[in-house]
Amino acid sequence: MKYNFDEIIPRLNTRCAKYDERLKKFGTEDLIPLWIADMDFKTAEPIIKSLKQKAEEGIYGYVSRPDSYFKAGCDWKKRRNNWDIDESLCSFSIGVVPAMTIMAEIWCENGSKILIQPPIYGEFFEIVENSGNSILKNNLIKKDGKWCIDWDDFENKLKLASMFLFCNPHNPLGIVWEKNEVERIVNFCAKYNVILISDEIHSDLIFNNKKFIPTASVNELAKNTVISCFSATKTFNLAGLQACTVVFPNNKLKSEFDKWWYAKDIHRNNSFSSVAMEVAYNEGEEWLEQLLPYIDNNFKFVVEYCKKYIPKIKTFIPDATYLMWLDCQELNLSNEKLDEFMVKKAKLGLSSGIAFDKELDGFMRLNVACPISILKQALEQLKKAVDKL
Ligand SMILES: Cc1ncc(COP(=O)(O)O)c(C=O)c1O
Repeated sequence: MKYNFDEIIPRLNTRCAKYDERLKKFGTEDLIPLWIADMDFKTAEPIIKSLKQKAEEGIYGYVSRPDSYFKAGCDWKKRRNNWDIDESLCSFSIGVVPAMTIMAEIWCENGSKILIQPPIYGEFFEIVENSGNSILKNNLIKKDGKWCIDWDDFENKLKLASMFLFCNPHNPLGIVWEKNEVERIVNFCAKYNVILISDEIHSDLIFNNKKFIPTASVNELAKNTVISCFSATKTFNLAGLQACTVVFPNNKLKSEFDKWWYAKDIHRNNSFSSVAMEVAYNEGEEWLEQLLPYIDNNFKFVVEYCKKYIPKIKTFIPDATYLMWLDCQELNLSNEKLDEFMVKKAKLGLSSGIAFDKELDGFMRLNVACPISILKQALEQLKKAVDKL
């Protein structure tokens, strides 16, 4: 079927964070929200159908997860990324962030150092802190206009670290790491005995003919050492259903992880995620294949618009995610003033750059997973506000 991503779906008062938490987050409801990473599009029709069927059953008792549940995710990964996963080494979790927090809690002694690569998804900082550990930063650096890893610093920091949280692909910079980079990371982590957790939640949202390489699939060492997290929630706009799959390299790590969740009795899907995730992987591909060019077009629109009408704001087309990194340094505003400018003058609810690294000055993150008409309106508001500065 043909999907219409131009359709504006009213989200106000639907209990969605993006719209209904505007007052709490920005102090006003008078702005276009383009912050939290979900989409303003309806998900794939087969998923909606399966959820309606589930709702119609009228009984939402304890859920039994059939073998077909993990099989659907593993088949998807094989089909799209040529990654062979042993289904018996998969675990369920209510989300990537909770899964990573618990792994940091279980396997890092309190006060251990956990390595991350800022600018990075803000929750990575919280995962480290909430698990009682401390942050070690291997800042990504810009070389010849391209963001990349400072390898000397990476190796030096690994010598001090117990765990590395790898964001592959990277949020907010949309980097799809190359095979040789992934291999190098795996090899270094093994050399220094650092637990490597690969957050692959954005791995289905790939552009510019890039090829996503699942970290655990890169070589035999990776298969035996890496822990990976992926989910249909980001790909198919199902974050409110809360589910992710964690793939372990061996039974020992899997059972330690499972033991924690069983002890808290948080090991079952809810009634709705149980069907939606499976149907997404089995029947959602047609939707995804139509979504990707739509998002790609939104990226191009923003880049062209900024170049032409707001040249002081620099951006680029990311290779992954539906998030764009805006360099607003030429506006010459402090971080506080930049936030205020976006909210009060441009009337836009974006994510502040400092959420991705406190030391950054003058960056914002823009979520373009919305109908292009919303994006056009947002950029017109931004242009007008910048013109008045
Ligand atoms: C890199 C990354 N990891 C994890 C998450 C959240 O995952 P979950 O909702 O499964 O905890 C996000 C959400 O934006 C993300 O960007």
